[in-house]
Amino acid sequence: MNYGDFFSEDVGAFMRSPVREIFKKVDLASIYSFAGGYPDASTFPLDEVRSLSARVLEKYGAKALQYGATQGVPELREVIAKRYGVPVENVQITTSSQQGIDVCTRVFVNPGDVILTTAPTYLGALQSFKSYRAEIRTLDNPGGKKPKFCYVIPDFQNPSGETMSLEQRENLVALARERDFLIVEDSPYRELRYSGEPVPTLYSLAPERTLHLGSFSKIFAPGFRLGWILGPGPLLEQIYVCKQSLDLCPPVFDQYMAAEFMGSGALDANLQKSIALYRAKRDKMLSLLEKYMPEGVSWTHPEGGLFLFLTLPDGFDTVALYDRALSAGVAYVAGSFFYPDGSHRNTMRMNFSFLDASRMEAGVQLLAEVIKNH
Ligand SMILES: Cc1ncc(COP(=O)(O)O)c(C=O)c1O
Repeated sequence: MNYGDFFSEDVGAFMRSPVREIFKKVDLASIYSFAGGYPDASTFPLDEVRSLSARVLEKYGAKALQYGATQGVPELREVIAKRYGVPVENVQITTSSQQGIDVCTRVFVNPGDVILTTAPTYLGALQSFKSYRAEIRTLDNPGGKKPKFCYVIPDFQNPSGETMSLEQRENLVALARERDFLIVEDSPYRELRYSGEPVPTLYSLAPERTLHLGSFSKIFAPGFRLGWILGPGPLLEQIYVCKQSLDLCPPVFDQYMAAEFMGSGALDANLQKSIALYRAKRDKMLSLLEKYMPEGVSWTHPEGGLFLFLTLPDGFDTVALYDRALSAGVAYVAGSFFYPDGSHRNTMRMNFSFLDASRMEAGVQLLAEVIKNH
């Protein structure tokens, strides 16, 4: 049988995630992995989840296991609306922010439409944009065609770790208003700030045209697959209709758990502990890079989030270097995967949240050796 005949035209545009391919090759626990974007598992509130699930079943009974509203259960929408100071009508719950990205692309983009983004940008977003056959252009080379939306991660970006300044945000808003496009503000790391001062969200600067994507993955646990979109009512209305065909409703039991966790203040208490842990890990990572990396290697200094980005001297190819690093027992993600055009092959993304702090030094030392020996 020729199975190829059965696939849609979209399938040809699908892109495999190189990060997920790396995970298939190796057992993360057996190496020093700076590759994935996994939270530190010690931040997952296991004991609390145990008592929360009992509480949810007691409070909601069978309702917690039933289908729910497509917009999300009212209890969670209300808690989120209160936390972020928006009317509850402007909150749509999603089955994680990856779905938020995908549903925005599906609702706004026809094949050939332009999506603006930064370079580098989040790989999962590129996968989604490509699957809808969008034309991806970067902010520094936007071209003449009017974009549908601009996708950015303003706080502690994945992969660079960098944060957009207020001026950059205001410039983007001015451009969006001048050329009349939407802004998709992907914000899963915003609450993980370890130093510096918060910068206003794009949503607060341009609420009429911004879809702000939030996520429980990095502030609660990614296994729940829960996120939210804040945005203008008429845009959320179409997203709501689209989501009916995607998954009918976000996971109901998870939503009640998240509503209890966020609403009771337990999320903030847990977040404070996560921030302290990640701040120490970031600081450790920065000092280890300082100690071991050879001259000519530079890196970003993130004020939050889970990643920093290394630039090696010209001529280095981190895609080619990868197998050597893996044989030495250390993993990263090549930076070029995050560039829409695959350029910047001398860069790499390093995650500092996942690896146990006690194992970081050996990992950075190994990676520095691999770079030096090249
Ligand atoms: C920028 C960005 N957006 C979205 C996601 C997806 O997160 P979620 O678990 O909410 O789907 C990630 C995950 O790493 C991310 O880095």
